[in-house]
Amino acid sequence: MHSFHYQNGSLHCEDVDLAGLADEHGTPAYVYSATTIRDHYRRLDQALAGLDHGIEYAVKANSNLSVLKLLVDEGSGFDIVSGGELRRVIEAGGDPGKCTFAGVGKTREEIEYAIEKQIYCFNAESEEEVVFIDQVAGEMGKVAPVAFRVNPNVDAKTHKYISTGKSENKFGVDFEVIDAAYERASKLVNISLRGLQMHIGSQLTSLQPLIEAVEKVTPLAVRLKEAYGIEFFSIGGGVGIVYDPALESGKPDWWAAQEEEHKPLTIEQYAEGVMPVLKESGLKILLEPGRYIVGNAGVLLTRCLYEKKGSAKTFRIVDAGMNDLIRPALYEGHHEIVPLNEPTGSSSSVDVVGPVCETGDFFCQSRELPDFVPGEAIALLSAGAYGFVMASNYNSRGLPVEILVEGAEARVIRPRQTIEDILASEKAAL
Ligand code: LLP
Repeated sequence: MHSFHYQNGSLHCEDVDLAGLADEHGTPAYVYSATTIRDHYRRLDQALAGLDHGIEYAVKANSNLSVLKLLVDEGSGFDIVSGGELRRVIEAGGDPGKCTFAGVGKTREEIEYAIEKQIYCFNAESEEEVVFIDQVAGEMGKVAPVAFRVNPNVDAKTHKYISTGKSENKFGVDFEVIDAAYERASKLVNISLRGLQMHIGSQLTSLQPLIEAVEKVTPLAVRLKEAYGIEFFSIGGGVGIVYDPALESGKPDWWAAQEEEHKPLTIEQYAEGVMPVLKESGLKILLEPGRYIVGNAGVLLTRCLYEKKGSAKTFRIVDAGMNDLIRPALYEGHHEIVPLNEPTGSSSSVDVVGPVCETGDFFCQSRELPDFVPGEAIALLSAGAYGFVMASNYNSRGLPVEILVEGAEARVIRPRQTIEDILASEKAAL
């Protein structure tokens, strides 16, 4: 379900007119739909109803406290990758006892903090890390729950920067040596072996690699349960979304033409695909979805500043840049671009670019887009995941405002960062 649609000629998020938000709060602005986030969480939960499962929302996808709070209220657990993310979950009212802690480079401070807060489990990425967690836990007089992340050496068939399950990737312990790693870890007295984890990559649009990995790793999970009494098997996140306009009504012609080639992997297909094998394991199954929950629940609003007609191309220069949404520059990510004023039919081939001084600062190149003119605001769709969280102050640009919509209500959940905010700590050091 998506809550972005044209109503009375203007793009709305739920019942809120986005042009009004752009006028009131300025641009660039991230806008999220609370109803969509909740709906995605519930759809996933329901699709897995036949399985003893737990959802650990991947905080890295969108870590705004109000977004986390929504998911706390749904009963979600959380997959975290830093002490900072654990702190966010706690600030949002989440239970550390429902948190798994992933990542290849956990520091002593982070490990101590997580042990103190009694997280559900560390998902360790190497034997060296497990030995260190054992040492830190021992010094604290505690026993730390640990799972290994196994690298199943399966090609996730996604962009190379977000593929994680091949042996040349830095993640996890090689499948071939994982039994021996558990055997050695079982001798350590300050850890308990609680589970097994894998994550083969992000933005998976085909089910086959995931099924291949699940079929390869489930027998291992069952063996580990018998040998060491582990209680969960986490199959990671990675469910892909369709980076399309996802408009519920008034789909323009230029969108309908593309629809066929962007068929989504539905969450129901995903669940049906993995459940039969997982059910037999008798283990609790954890999932760590990020993008699926929040990706299509957010847009980035930006205003067109200039149109520049070059000899080779037409550039529409907007007030958002790669510092606000880096996905096109970093992963060749595609985001649909729609004007807030409902298109009338005329279109042209343009590059939509930002103000940052980099050639990679573009949102699309030579794309046929419905016409919009300087002064008009547009929306970059599917920007709810890995959007704001990856934004930076490059070019001394402030971070955008974040707004959460629910029904007819819109609430600022993080104010726009000002240049004063950016300079404060540096001025203090002058
Ligand atoms: N679990 C682990 C261990 C992960 O590393 C990730 C994502 C997830 C779960 C959540 O994956 P998701 O369900 O969101 O695909 N910035 C990139 C994506 C990086 C993903 C990193 N790990 C992008 O914008 O495409």
